[in-house]
Amino acid sequence: MIAGFHEDPGPGTGRRAPRADFVSDAPRHSLNGQWRFLLSGTAAGTGPGLPDPALDDSGWERIRVPSHWVLEGHDRPLYTNTAYPFPIDPPYLPDDNPTGDYRLRFDLPADWPAARDVLRFQGVDSCGTVWLNGELLGHSKGSRLPFEFDVTGRLRERGNVLAVRVHRWSSGSYLEDQDMWWLPGIFRDVELLSRPEGGIDDFTVHASYHDGTGTLLVTADAPGLVELPALGLAIPTGEQVTVPGVRPWSAEDPCLHRGTLTAAGETIDLAVGFRTVEIAGGRLLVNGRPILMRGVNRHEHDPDRGRSLDRATMIRDIELMKRHNLNAVRTSHYPPHPEFLRLCDEYGLWVVDECDIETHGFIYAGWEGNPPAEPMWRDALLDRARRMVERDKNHPSVIIWSLGNESGGGATFGDIEEWIRERDPTRPLHYERDPSYRHSDFYSLMYPAQDTLERIGQRKEDTPAGVEPGSPDDVRRRELPFLLCEYAHAMGNGPGSLVDYQRILESYERFCGAFVWEWIDHGLAGRDALGRRYYRHGGDIDASPNGERFCLDGLLFPDRTPSPGLLELRKAVEPVAMEVSGGELVITSKYDFTALDQLTFRWFVEADGMRGASGTLSVPHCPARSSVRVPLPSAEAGGDGETWLTVEAVLAEETRWAPAGHVIAFTQTHLGTTARGRPPSTPSPALSSPAPDAEPAPTPQPAVGGRVGEVRLGTAVFDGRTGRLARLGDVELDGPVLDVWRAPIENDHGLGGANAPAADWEAVGVDRFLHRTAALDRPDERTLVVRVRSGPATRTLGFRTTYTYRLLDDGTLHLRIDADPVGDWDDTAYGHLTVTPPRMGTRFALPGGYTDVTWFGLGPGESYADSRAAARVGRFRSSIDALQTPYVVPQENGNHVETRWLEVSGDGLPTLRVDGEPHVDFTARRWTSEALRAARHPHDLTDSGRVWLNLDHGQQGVGSASCGPALPERYRLKVRPRTWSMTLTPVRP
Ligand code: GAL
Repeated sequence: MIAGFHEDPGPGTGRRAPRADFVSDAPRHSLNGQWRFLLSGTAAGTGPGLPDPALDDSGWERIRVPSHWVLEGHDRPLYTNTAYPFPIDPPYLPDDNPTGDYRLRFDLPADWPAARDVLRFQGVDSCGTVWLNGELLGHSKGSRLPFEFDVTGRLRERGNVLAVRVHRWSSGSYLEDQDMWWLPGIFRDVELLSRPEGGIDDFTVHASYHDGTGTLLVTADAPGLVELPALGLAIPTGEQVTVPGVRPWSAEDPCLHRGTLTAAGETIDLAVGFRTVEIAGGRLLVNGRPILMRGVNRHEHDPDRGRSLDRATMIRDIELMKRHNLNAVRTSHYPPHPEFLRLCDEYGLWVVDECDIETHGFIYAGWEGNPPAEPMWRDALLDRARRMVERDKNHPSVIIWSLGNESGGGATFGDIEEWIRERDPTRPLHYERDPSYRHSDFYSLMYPAQDTLERIGQRKEDTPAGVEPGSPDDVRRRELPFLLCEYAHAMGNGPGSLVDYQRILESYERFCGAFVWEWIDHGLAGRDALGRRYYRHGGDIDASPNGERFCLDGLLFPDRTPSPGLLELRKAVEPVAMEVSGGELVITSKYDFTALDQLTFRWFVEADGMRGASGTLSVPHCPARSSVRVPLPSAEAGGDGETWLTVEAVLAEETRWAPAGHVIAFTQTHLGTTARGRPPSTPSPALSSPAPDAEPAPTPQPAVGGRVGEVRLGTAVFDGRTGRLARLGDVELDGPVLDVWRAPIENDHGLGGANAPAADWEAVGVDRFLHRTAALDRPDERTLVVRVRSGPATRTLGFRTTYTYRLLDDGTLHLRIDADPVGDWDDTAYGHLTVTPPRMGTRFALPGGYTDVTWFGLGPGESYADSRAAARVGRFRSSIDALQTPYVVPQENGNHVETRWLEVSGDGLPTLRVDGEPHVDFTARRWTSEALRAARHPHDLTDSGRVWLNLDHGQQGVGSASCGPALPERYRLKVRPRTWSMTLTPVRP
C-alpha cells in the first residue's frame, strides 16, 4: 500500500513544466527567512491540519529557510557511501520517516502586480508537498532540481499561509544514493515570481561559433526582442543572425555578450556565449579545437550549511579552482544551485552538468530491480533529466550533460538519451556506468591504473566485461573520446601520481579531460567537550549503516583551506610548461585557446636559498598549444652553495579571480654548486657491512672520559647501553632509533581490504619493532660503531643496523647508517605477503622547548616520493606546529623530501643542525607516529613534551589506493640494504 505522495514512484503532481532559470526585472519576492517548523517521527507529520491557515503554530520551533534541519538542531545527519539507509523495498520507505512540517505566513509586497504568480522551490530534499492558503498545490521529488506551482489567483495581499511537508525519505531517495550526507530540508531558495501576462516564460539561446563567425537564434514561448548592444544586434526571437568576427566563449576567455530579451512586461538578462561543442575524429572539440579539461568533481558542501550554499561560497569555490589552474568541474552528482552555473559562465569553467540520479545501493540487491531498468521509475528518471536540461540549457559553460552516476544500466537511459538528443542536440552526453557506452558520447572510467589509462589513450584498451570483442559496441567505443570522470582519490594525505596521470593525459589525443575525486572534504562542524571546533565524518554519528571517513576525500579541507594535494594538482595541471634546454628556456603553452600574452615571466636566482639577481624575461607572442624559446638570463649567483634559477609565469594584470602577480606556473633549474660557507663534511670512512650472521657479541664499553654508562666522542655523549646519542654539545637528544613505519594514511588502508599495506604492516609488526643493541665498538679515537638489531615480536624479520659515528675536524659528528634486512620478509605464514616498510629512517627525541625548523631543500609544504612537484628548492622556516598538516583524521603528514640541511631551534636552546649527504627526509612534530595513529581527531593530539624528529632515508609515496589502484612499485621502499648519512652539529644560540 502506498502511504502517500512520498511513496509514489512518480516525480510529482501539480507542477509547472520545467523551464530555463533566468534573471529578469519582473517582480520576485524571496520567501527565504524564518519559518515555523516541527519535526515528527513518521510520514504523517503533524497530521492533516498542517495546511489549515487557522492552525496555531505559535508553539512551533523556528527554522531558517533554506537549510537542512539536521544541521539546525533537529535529528541528525547521516552519511553512507553506497548503502541505502533503509531496506531495499522500492518504492516503499519505513514507517520511521522523520518528517518536517514547515509553515510560513507572509504578505505580498505593497507593489506586487496583479499578474500570473509562480511559487518556486529551488531544492527540497527529499520531497515536498505544498499547500497555499489551505489548498493543495502538488508535490515534487528530485531534491536538487527546481519545481514551480502556478499560484495565480491564490494569493492574498496579507496573511498568506504556505505549508510544506518534507519527508526525509521518499521514493525519490531510491534515485539519490550518491556518496554524501543525507541532508533533508528545504535547502535552496523559495521564491514568489510575478510572471507578466503574455510574457516569455521559457526561451532557448542557440549561440554557436564556427571559424570566426557566430550564429545566434533565440527561440521563446512568446515573441520578444533580443538585443546585444555591443554587437549592434536587435533581432526578434525566432530569427537567426550570423555575427562575423565575434569573440567566442571558452573557459579560458569567458566572453559573454550581455544584453536583454524583452517581452511583454519583462526584460530578461541575456549573457550569450558563442561556442560550439562537437565530437569529431574521436576527439572532443569546442569551437573547432580540441580541449583538455583539468577538472574536479564538486559536491556542494559547507561544514555548517551542508548543501545550502550562499553565493559567496560558490564564488570562493570558483576562485579557488581558477587559482589552482583548474578549468573544469563535474557537478557530481546533481545539478548545482543555478547561481553556480551563472558564475561558471562568468569566470570561465567547462561544466559537465550531472543529473540527480544515482541508484548505487542496488548493488546490494545484485542490481535486481534497479530503477533505470524498471518501467515503474521511467517517468521519475526522465523528469529529472528534463528538469536539468530545461533549467540549465542556456549556459555556455555547460558543455556536456551527464545522465547520472553509478546507476548501472537500463532501458530508461535509452529514453533519457533520446529525449535529450531531441531537445538539445548541441551537447554531447556522458554516462560512465553502462559498459556498452551506448548512451554516452564518451568512453569513461573511474580510477584506472596508469598503464590502463595509457592503453586507453592508444585506443587499445581491453574490451569491458559484458561486451563482445569486435561487436558494434566495442568498435564504437574505441572511436569515442575518453573522459576520466574520477581519478586521484583525494582522501587524507594524497593523492600521489598527479604528475604521472597528467603526463599520460597530455600524451594522447583521445583524452578530453579528467576530474579529480573530489573538491572538498564533507566534514560537518562539531564541538568537542572543551568547545573546540572540529569536523565530523560519518563515523562520528552513531548510526548504521555508516560510510565513516569516506566522505573526507577532498582537495580542500572542510573549511576550504587548500590541502597539499590541491597544491600538487595546481602544479601538475599548470597550463604553461617551462624547461631549460640547450641554454634556452622553452616555454610551452598548454592553453587551448588563449595566447600567453596575459602572463609575465619573472625570474630570480638563489644560492643556498638566498636571493640573488632577478628580472623579467621578454617572451615573444606564444599562441595556444605552441612553444617559444627565450635565452636564459645571464644570472650571477652572488653566493655559495647550490644555485637555482626559478622562473615564474604570473598574471600580468588582475583578473576576476586572482590578483596581478598570481603564480600560474614555475620551473626551477639547477645552475651549479659552489662550496658553502661551512666546510663540506668529510666523507665517511669506507666501512664493510658486518656479515649478516657473524654478529659480534655485545662488548661492555668502558666510559671514555665520561660517567659510567656513557660513551663520549668529542662533545657527543652516548648511552653506553643502547648506543643512542644522549647529548651533542649542549643539545640534549635521544636517538637515533630505527623507524620503518608511519602512521597510516587513508591510502595505506586501501578500499575494502584491497591494496591495504597498513594491514600488512600490522600483521607482520612493522609498526612495533623492538631493538637490541648488539655492540658498541671504538675502532679508533674518532669513531664509534653501534650495531643494533631491530624487529617485531613473533617474527624473524627486521633490520641489522650499523650506526657509524665519526668525529670530524670541525667538531661535527658524522653519522652513517647501514640498515640491512634480516629474517623472512617474504612472509611464509602469510604466504603471498611481501611487506615493504613505509619508511626507512631514524627517529630522535628532542626537548619540547624546540619550536622552529629552518631548512634548505624542498618546501614550503609537505612532499612525498609521488607528490613533490609543488615543492620548490629553497630556504624555508616554519614553526614545528605549522609543519603539521591538519588532516581531518590524523595520519602521517609533514614530510619533506630531499632536505639538504635543517636547523632545529628554540628560545634559549642550542640549535641542532643536520646536513644530509646529500639529503634526508625530515618530519618534526610534538607527538609520535603512534599517537598520530591513535588519534581520531586533531584535538586528540596533545603535546608529548618532546619534539620527535625523523631523519629518514626515504618514505614510500602516498598514492590514492583508498579508492583506486595500488601504489606503483616505484614509489615503494623495497626491502634491501640501505645506507644514508648526515652530519649533526650543535650550534650555540
Ligand atoms: C565513486 C563515486 C563517488 C565516490 C567515489 C569514492 O565511485 O562516483 O561518488 O563515492 O567513488 O569516494
